[in-house]
Parts: sequence; C-alpha cells; structure tokens
Amino acid sequence: MIEFTNVSKSYKDKLILRDINMTFSSGEFVAIIGSSGCGKTTLLKMINKLLPMDRGDIIIDGKSIREIPDIKLRREIGYVVQEGGLFPHFTVKENLEIVPQLEGMEPEKRERRINELLDMVNLDPKMYSNSYPCQLSGGQRQRVGVARAFATDSDLILMDEPFSALDPLTREELQDEIVKLQKEYEKTIVFVTHDMDEAIKCADKICFIQNGTVIQFDKTEEILRHPANDYVEKFVGKNRLWGNPKYIHASDIMCKEPYILSRDRTVIQALQVMRQNAINSILITEGKNREFQGIVWLEDLSKLDVQHMSASIGDMISSDYISVFEESSLQEIIDEIDYYKSGIIPVLNERRELRGVLTKSILLSTLSKRYKKEQEG
Ligand SMILES: Nc1ncnc2c1ncn2[C@@H]1O[C@H](COP(=O)(O)OP(=O)(O)OP(=O)(O)O)[C@@H](O)[C@H]1O
Ligand SMILES: [Mg+2]
Repeated sequence: MIEFTNVSKSYKDKLILRDINMTFSSGEFVAIIGSSGCGKTTLLKMINKLLPMDRGDIIIDGKSIREIPDIKLRREIGYVVQEGGLFPHFTVKENLEIVPQLEGMEPEKRERRINELLDMVNLDPKMYSNSYPCQLSGGQRQRVGVARAFATDSDLILMDEPFSALDPLTREELQDEIVKLQKEYEKTIVFVTHDMDEAIKCADKICFIQNGTVIQFDKTEEILRHPANDYVEKFVGKNRLWGNPKYIHASDIMCKEPYILSRDRTVIQALQVMRQNAINSILITEGKNREFQGIVWLEDLSKLDVQHMSASIGDMISSDYISVFEESSLQEIIDEIDYYKSGIIPVLNERRELRGVLTKSILLSTLSKRYKKEQEG
C-alpha cells in the first residue's frame, strides 16, 4: 500500500504538485494521466526518491520512505521508463543481473532467474541473453525493461510511459502482457501514461492530475461514468463508455416497460396482446413486484388446438430462455447471446423480479453508438 499525505513539490518557486493525498492499495494497477508537464513523472520519481519531496510524506506498507535509505528503496522498487532504460553497454543478461547480483544471489540461481524472466516476457534466453540493447527492437528493449522491473522481486513497479515509443501492435501486445503479469504476480503497478485507452485497458483505477492536484482518483468505470470536470471529460471522451462493453450494464440500456402478462391470464388473451403489439413472445410475471415466471412464445401458442385457448398461460411457460441481471455487463450479455438464438432477454434483480428487457435491436443500437460517435469524430 502506498499512501501520499499532503505531498508537495516545487522546482525553484514554481509549484508543481500541491498537497497530494491518495492511497494506492496493494495489488492495484493505477494509471496516472494528465497533460504534458502536469507532474506525472515528478510524482513517480518521488516514490522511489529519485526526486525529493518538499513537504508531506509517502508511506509504503506502513513505512515512510524518508526512513528507507535511497539505494535500498530503489533496489526494492521496479522502475520502467520509455525504451526500457537499459544500460547500453551491458548485455541483456547483465542488465537483468544487476539487482540479483547486488542482493548476493548465487551465480547459478541468477542464471536460472534471468532465463525465467526472459521467458516471462516472451524473449528466448538463448537468442537474446548476450545481445546489447542496440541490437534489439524497441519492443524487445521494452520487454527487457519490464523483465528487469520484475527481477527486483518487489511488490511495487513504477512505469513511466513505458510503451509510448512503440508501434500500436507491439504496444497492445505489451499492454496485454503487463496486465497478465501483474495479476499473476500480484504486483502493485503505478503506470504513467498520456493515453486514455491504455489507462482504461490496463488500470483498475485512474488518477487524473491537473494544475498540480489530483482532480479525480477512482475506479475506471466511475471515471467513465462520472468525470469530475471538463478536463477529465475531455480526456475520457463522451463516447468512451459506449466503446467499452464491460462498463455498460443491462440496466443502462434495457427497455423498462416490456410487455408482460400475469400467469393467470389465458392463452387467447396472450395471443391477443401479441398480435396487437406485433411481438412474438411475452414475459410472464406474478404479483405487483413482477416476479419473473418465464416466457411464452407465439410459435408455441400457434400450435395449440381451439380447446386450449382458455387454458391458463401459466401452463404454457417455456423455460427455454436466458436471463441476465441488472448489473450484467454488455460484454457478458454479448457472450451469452452468441449461444442464444432468440431475440429477447429478461433483465432481473437478485430477487428474480423483472426489471426490464433487452432485445437484439437494443443491443445493436447500443453497439452502433460507438461507431456513430467515432465517425462524428
Ligand atoms: N529539474 C527540473 N527543474 C525545473 N523544472 C522541472 C524539472 N523537471 C521538471 N520540471 C517541470 O516540472 C513540471 C512537471 O514535469 P514532469 O516531468 O513531472 O511532467 P510530466 O507530467 O511527466 O510531463 P510529460 O507528460 O511531458 O512527461 C514541468 O512543467 C517541467 O517543466
Ligand atoms: Mg513525464
């Protein structure tokens, strides 16, 4: 856990960061975002004491960094910068070896560890151990940079725009990689970026810095739903939420007034409602809280003989449907609907009361919003 209490920093008489108060929990992936020159790098470098703070304190796992010797602190915290920040005159192996060597790890164990690290970032140790950074591509250098940060065995890794110099494909690949590694190794990652898409993709929480203060620090979804001010909103972009199916919930898009019928109504009444409204199914509920019973399909009713017309609709309920909860994400819904041919999905609350309905056309229009907005620019 990292706690910032009233952290301030100036260069000469120019105040860069003012009274920063926030807490990063262990195992969290936090993205720091803000326009160029707002103090992101400064904030990061104060954590590992590459820069001194003027006032306030940063406490890591209960201990003030003021009480931890600089070298020890830096050795314990992974740090990745653009282009990997490798020593150019050291081979890949030597670059990775520095910290384990300083910590007195046996040569044999060191060798094994380095091979593990290279495997971890998908670089073949046999091919690359003895290469120099200038012999690697930007993406490969970045991979070595990430591996080196993991070499410290620390729980905390700081990353300063690590992927910004990479082409989009390599960048996406490394983003996927780092998210996977972070979850697998349960690291706390503080990740500076300019790129909102990168932040949304990788981070659990996003911290916005503007004019020397933290304007908003919250879960990604909260930021997308409720940007704190125009500045954050501009970064987020109005349509970002719609472009991220995992942050859209059934309750955001469902139709709240579906056609329903009580289970004690008759087949003929159900047929009448369906014909009048040109629908091919109807949702059956019970009681004023609309306890959900199931769906009746026009197709099934159409097959019935005349003598069944006054039968209770309750006997005709089909359980051949899927339902979702109000909190289900569009992503989950889309995954479900792949296997589900029918066009109607009841949305229930935890008491299985009917809250609304989703149809294929609702889903389609929700998804198309993303493209419409993108075209509008
Ligand atoms: N050594 C220094 N001396 C004086 N001013 C500095 C120094 N380092 C940074 N600054 C200033 O402090 C401010 C914050 O710099 P910082 O590098 O933290 O910004 P940043 O948010 O990381 O920007 P970028 O997105 O461009 O990397 C900038 O206005 C910068 O000019
Ligand atoms: Mg910077």
